[in-house]
Amino acid sequence: MRAWTPTGRPGDPLELATPQRPTPGPGELLVEVRAYSINRGETMLLERPRPGWRPGKDIAGTVVSVGPDTADWRVGDRVVAHPESGGWAEFAAVPAGRAALLPDSISDRVAAALPLAGLTAPRLLRVAGPIAGKRVLLTGASGGVGHYLVELAATQGALVTAVTSTPDRGERLLELGAADVVGKVGDTDGHFDLVLESVGGETLAEAWARLATRGLLIWFGQASRTPITLDFFNWSGAESGTLRKFSYAESDIPDGADLATLVRLVQGGHLHPEIGSVRPWLDTPEAVRALLERSVRGNLVLEVGQ
Ligand SMILES: NC(=O)c1ccc[n+]([C@@H]2O[C@H](COP(=O)([O-])OP(=O)(O)OC[C@H]3O[C@@H](n4cnc5c(N)ncnc54)[C@H](OP(=O)(O)O)[C@@H]3O)[C@@H](O)[C@H]2O)c1
Repeated sequence: MRAWTPTGRPGDPLELATPQRPTPGPGELLVEVRAYSINRGETMLLERPRPGWRPGKDIAGTVVSVGPDTADWRVGDRVVAHPESGGWAEFAAVPAGRAALLPDSISDRVAAALPLAGLTAPRLLRVAGPIAGKRVLLTGASGGVGHYLVELAATQGALVTAVTSTPDRGERLLELGAADVVGKVGDTDGHFDLVLESVGGETLAEAWARLATRGLLIWFGQASRTPITLDFFNWSGAESGTLRKFSYAESDIPDGADLATLVRLVQGGHLHPEIGSVRPWLDTPEAVRALLERSVRGNLVLEVGQ
């Protein structure tokens, strides 16, 4: 089979290799991958790849063989899945507990946009607690996670202000229920009960300055690649509030169950993945560059076999 494999070379981090097709172990499914999506975090891992690691955490496709102890699964099942790695390939093995069945009404293209970004959004909101009627500030909102977060939070009754670099990167967020879209944190008015921050650098301090007293700021990323700066002597905003670091991997609900919830929401018309770019999978290196250049809105999907 063919699979994208890290080279470790800066500027040219991927090459198409021909590793052996995986054999599904106990509790695993072998999926013929039809589509996958790329996440910002994975592009960071590509810079310093671990030996033997191949990228790819978000896949949709068809089960072509099943390992032992997978009684509920059949060859031919269409699935969306979240393997630990190796999904940017023609075939990938995935634990059955990290997969969910797909109905005919959801295409591989749409399903592939769900796993990492989709899992992150409800998990962030579960940590945040009840948000109906609360003011929420979301930085880095134009990406994959941001679109899911805005739609889910707005549906729960939150008043979401989204920060995007340009108005066109915020257009869909308004359609999905954002109360407001601004170009930078400093353009917002008043204070927020909840801040969801994933840009880092100076943005976190600016966002903290907008946090209401005893509010909650959840820090879940550093897209700017710049460490945060907080200045004791130049402090503005809440004297008292909570800053919480978040990892989507720490979840009481397993991936397969959360994926099934996302599938149900999409099927019911309650969640609308924003797929800003679809490309043939052989364009993966260019797609990674586009993501890093911030030219993709929402999710970036690659279709295999195109
Ligand atoms: N903690 C966790 O478990 C977890 C899970 C998933 C994702 N994450 C992190 O959450 C963030 C969002 O994930 P995502 O998949 O939605 O990423 P994404 O699709 O790349 O979106 C990130 C957004 O950040 C904005 N941004 C602002 N300043 C930036 C800068 N200096 N460089 C790059 N982007 C910048 C960009 O929007 P504009 O161009 O409109 O400003 C971009 O659309 C990422 O940092 C990711 O690593 C964390």
